[in-house]
Amino acid sequence: MDLYEYQARELFEAHGVPVLRGLVAQSPEQARQAAEELGGGTVVVKAQVKTGGRGKAGGVKLAHSPDEAAVAADQILGLDIKGHPVRRVMVAEGADIAEEYYFSLLLDRAERNYLAMCSREGGMDIEQLAEERPEALAKVAVDPLVGIDDDKAGEILEAAGFGVRDAVRIAPVLKQLWQVYRDEDATLVEVNPLVKTAEGVILALDGKVSLDENASFRHPEHEQLVDAEAADPLEARAKEKGLNYVKLDGQVGVIGNGAGLVMSTLDVVAAAGEDLPGQPRPANFLDIGGGASSTVMANGLDIVLSDDQVQSVFVNVFGGITACSEVANGIVVALNELGERASKPLVVRLDGNSVDVGRAILAEYDHPKVTVVATMDEAARAAAELAANTSTN
Ligand SMILES: Nc1ncnc2c1ncn2[C@@H]1O[C@H](COP(=O)(O)OP(=O)(O)OP(=O)(O)O)[C@@H](O)[C@H]1O
Ligand SMILES: [Mg+2]
Repeated sequence: MDLYEYQARELFEAHGVPVLRGLVAQSPEQARQAAEELGGGTVVVKAQVKTGGRGKAGGVKLAHSPDEAAVAADQILGLDIKGHPVRRVMVAEGADIAEEYYFSLLLDRAERNYLAMCSREGGMDIEQLAEERPEALAKVAVDPLVGIDDDKAGEILEAAGFGVRDAVRIAPVLKQLWQVYRDEDATLVEVNPLVKTAEGVILALDGKVSLDENASFRHPEHEQLVDAEAADPLEARAKEKGLNYVKLDGQVGVIGNGAGLVMSTLDVVAAAGEDLPGQPRPANFLDIGGGASSTVMANGLDIVLSDDQVQSVFVNVFGGITACSEVANGIVVALNELGERASKPLVVRLDGNSVDVGRAILAEYDHPKVTVVATMDEAARAAAELAANTSTN
């Protein structure tokens, strides 16, 4: 789970990382009040979106008075930054920046280790720096069992080319950022820019944090960081029903049992759609899991059919623990409940455990929208064609 900057700021603050005060605002008026609360002086108004490059997109503005803060908020709220609508801004105290640095700590999956990256040249052009002058971005492996202690902080800062005076000031902040990473079970903690002010104080002026959802059982308090309004409503509904559903942007709904089968079904559907008009693609990933009951199947179908983009649905089940008869019953239950709403064609491929019973149930039910197809390739082709036909009509 990626956090907003203001949430990262709060985690930083809780772990002693030096940050400036910041308040969230959802309207120009709230931004004005926030600027007043921060003392009425210079503030920065910053778009809160979960993507980078906000500054360059006009999402970070300096304001010298509460009135200017309101104007800035008015300009930033409602912006669309790389497909992310700005619903909130953070009004933060202005810093007197002397130098901007870069620091990040992340999970290096390829190396099965943690990796710290650090540069004396931070700020908005870090991606460019990494590409054009990679030597200016130090990369230092961090042992998960040791983390960033004094020695490691020294090693990172030396590799980045900091002199001793700066290194002595920055090292404690790196250690605190390590604590954020470890204690919150993060997979990324990035600070760009980490700044030195004119008075020589080190501050984290921006924060990007990703939390490891596999560790969420250890962090009930992270639940409150979930952004309900930005979540896809269907994904939220699926989660409530315990379904493993991911919305994609195509037209063919895909339901299967087992993540591996569903993944390969996505590939087969995408391949089948390639030469068809409109090139229909998978609309979602939905794994009903092993041993799914008819209720689970019905819930899954209900979710997929609720997606307006879906033009056809491919149900691909290989019965192992899941009996094809249960799946067939689930389809019947769902279509009965959905009634008129079940207006999209369904292609069903069943194989394995209780396949004969499953097919017999569907044959007897004889729903006009349901086609039973024997193989996965044929079924993918049929589902893609149905989606192509509907979208070109
Ligand atoms: N509190 C602040 N006071 C003064 N200047 C600031 C403050 N916060 C940010 N800035 C300036 O604005 C620039 C951009 O801010 P920030 O890093 O938060 O956004 P960004 O880098 O554009 O966004 P992202 O990190 O999402 O790519 C910083 O490099 C810094 O120069
Ligand atoms: Mg930044």
